[in-house]
Amino acid sequence: MTPASIEDFRELARRRLPRFLFDYIDGGSYAEDTLRANEADLRQLKLRQRVMRDVSEISPGTTMLGQEAAFPVALAPIGLAGLYARRGEVQAARAAEAAGIPFILSSSSCCAIEEVGRGVTKPVMLQLYMIKDRGFMAELLARTAAAGVETLILTVDLIVHSPRRRDLRTGLTGQQGLAARMTRAVEIARHPAWAWDVGLWGRPHTLGNFAPCMPDGAGLAEFTAWVGRNFDASITWADLDWLRQHWHGRLAIKGILDPDDARDAITAGAGTIIVSNHGGRQLDGAPSSIAALPAVVEAVAGRADVLMDGGIRSGVDILRALALGARGILLGRAWAFALGAQGGAGVTRMLELMRHELAVAMALTGQRDVRTVSRDILVDG
Ligand code: FNR
Repeated sequence: MTPASIEDFRELARRRLPRFLFDYIDGGSYAEDTLRANEADLRQLKLRQRVMRDVSEISPGTTMLGQEAAFPVALAPIGLAGLYARRGEVQAARAAEAAGIPFILSSSSCCAIEEVGRGVTKPVMLQLYMIKDRGFMAELLARTAAAGVETLILTVDLIVHSPRRRDLRTGLTGQQGLAARMTRAVEIARHPAWAWDVGLWGRPHTLGNFAPCMPDGAGLAEFTAWVGRNFDASITWADLDWLRQHWHGRLAIKGILDPDDARDAITAGAGTIIVSNHGGRQLDGAPSSIAALPAVVEAVAGRADVLMDGGIRSGVDILRALALGARGILLGRAWAFALGAQGGAGVTRMLELMRHELAVAMALTGQRDVRTVSRDILVDG
């Protein structure tokens, strides 16, 4: 099958990956209401078709997070991507570089920032969670700067880990007894291509960035328990002072849904706000990102760039987010599925698809320049 949509990549990933990995990517927290709302609310926005406006030349290029972007998309931080394809973060970072868009490495990645840095020619960006052990944090920030990273994305909506029922059912999280291990082993045996590519040749399966402060040999199963013990739920905006002392580059805050939080983030020094509910993986019942976006854009009032993620499954969705004031968007599951389906080549294909869909949607709404898209392109906008 030649994938012609994100749904196709999702289906290919479903066939190729062991169930516990597919569900880890596909799922959200609790009843998954926010996850569904992210997609549904975007699709409800109706675009205004315009004609006879000379759209023979389309400019999709912009800047995001201080970097040129060939179109207004960055790859969102996705944990454990090294399990979706062999050394998956390196493959995805290369695909992003080839497409001319930013790549944000999750701090919970399999490949460490140094390994990913060696795989590309321009520096990637790093996403960070606040860990209680500030000594370790300081070391990781120093490693990050040494790897040439200029932009840090601090994710603030995962101070506690919200339960994901699918992960409990597949045995990815929860009690790691014999039953959970057996379920995983059976799934691996049922997916020999994955077992060969990633299970055998994609080692080590450790978390490259956190490895120095995790117990020796700790892998996936221990990770969520480790998160519970080590992620710092006590952080407040005052802690950004500490971060600022150890990080002198650009700072973006990811996981904002509320206009008051957006104002506080700017006061605390954020240059970019990322409107996000973690892809519906944290507070189930929170509004969709697209519903939250307009009020955040208004509160920010041009003092910082506003990006958004959550539910983007097509180039048309990208245009919808831009119409409501996002400067650009982050793709999460879209690239995770593409990587799981076809490795780095899949990410490249998926990005080509997105870029083309965006260009078509711009042409049919009479838009030549992605930087000037506004609410005007929405029916009843
Ligand atoms: C994520 N997300 C995420 N965010 C983050 O800041 N650090 C991380 O390590 C991860 N890990 C992660 C793993 C998986 C499998 C998913 C699906 C998501 C959230 C991610 O960056 C982004 O906010 C959402 O994925 C956006 O929603 P969509 O595009 O997946 O709908």
